[in-house]
Amino acid sequence: MMRETTLSADDFIYPLFVIHGVGVRREIAAMPGNYQLSVDMLGPEIAEIAELRIPAVILFGLPERKDPTGSEGYARGGVVQQAIREIKRLAPELVIITDVCLCEYTDHGHCGVVDAEGHVLNDPTVELLQKMALSHACAGADIVAPSDMMDGRVGAIRTALDDEGFTDVVIMSYAVKYASGFYGPFREAADSAPQFGDRRGYQMDPPNLREAIREAEMDLAEGADIIMVKPALAYLDVVSAVASAFSVPIAAYNVSGEFSMVKAAAERGWIDERRVALEVLTAIKRAGADMILTYHAKDAVRWLSEI
Ligand code: PBG
Repeated sequence: MMRETTLSADDFIYPLFVIHGVGVRREIAAMPGNYQLSVDMLGPEIAEIAELRIPAVILFGLPERKDPTGSEGYARGGVVQQAIREIKRLAPELVIITDVCLCEYTDHGHCGVVDAEGHVLNDPTVELLQKMALSHACAGADIVAPSDMMDGRVGAIRTALDDEGFTDVVIMSYAVKYASGFYGPFREAADSAPQFGDRRGYQMDPPNLREAIREAEMDLAEGADIIMVKPALAYLDVVSAVASAFSVPIAAYNVSGEFSMVKAAAERGWIDERRVALEVLTAIKRAGADMILTYHAKDAVRWLSEI
């Protein structure tokens, strides 16, 4: 009766990694209980998610072949595009969010195209991101989530979507994304580690808070509908500041490293996974997140129903 913050299935977005091939269901070593799935294996996974009443999934793709411009990322027959069509067929009510970024698709592993010196080129990258967002919308995505951190990409994607009649497709911007060590396990899951350098040139510096407000302001001005803060756990002050500053829905990404830490400590018997995971998720919501992207989504819904 006195509890101020409660969790429910409605709060969660579950990440899925889709891969080419047939009959593939490969567990991600550093993220137990999470799998790389081929499109034909999505059936049971989607049924489980729908049955748990998790309202949305976010899709990441592993291409067959990587190249300098990440062309499989915006191919009509790309793995994410195929997965969107299949999920819409399996569960039309499930909201499909797609990660719009080139890092999973480029052979160098950066989030954009690079020049001979290895610098990421902003404007040519934005053009490819427009193509990628559009190809996801054409396949049936409800929400596109640009995670690349290039300047001007939200406005460019909004224009590209509107020009093709996708005025109802929502943009969830990874507006506030820090250059974080917590993405480690994801880079194994999505096979997207940069082959040289790092992402500090385009992701934010962890000590900066006011910059978060500036980034969110810019993306909102360009037409973002939902603002995301990422990572979540070490950035609860940022979630709180962004949630107080803006009246739009706020998403927080409880990223791979945050999940793996809990799993690993629980496997050693050092902490109680259920108790800690629910405590973390509650804290993220208490800080001001309206929705939480989390690898714990399925477990959390089960645990909540047992309370
Ligand atoms: C970029 C992207 C990343 C994550 C989501 N989208 C990796 C990165 O920015 O390096 C990380 C998510 C996680 O760690 O769970 N496409």
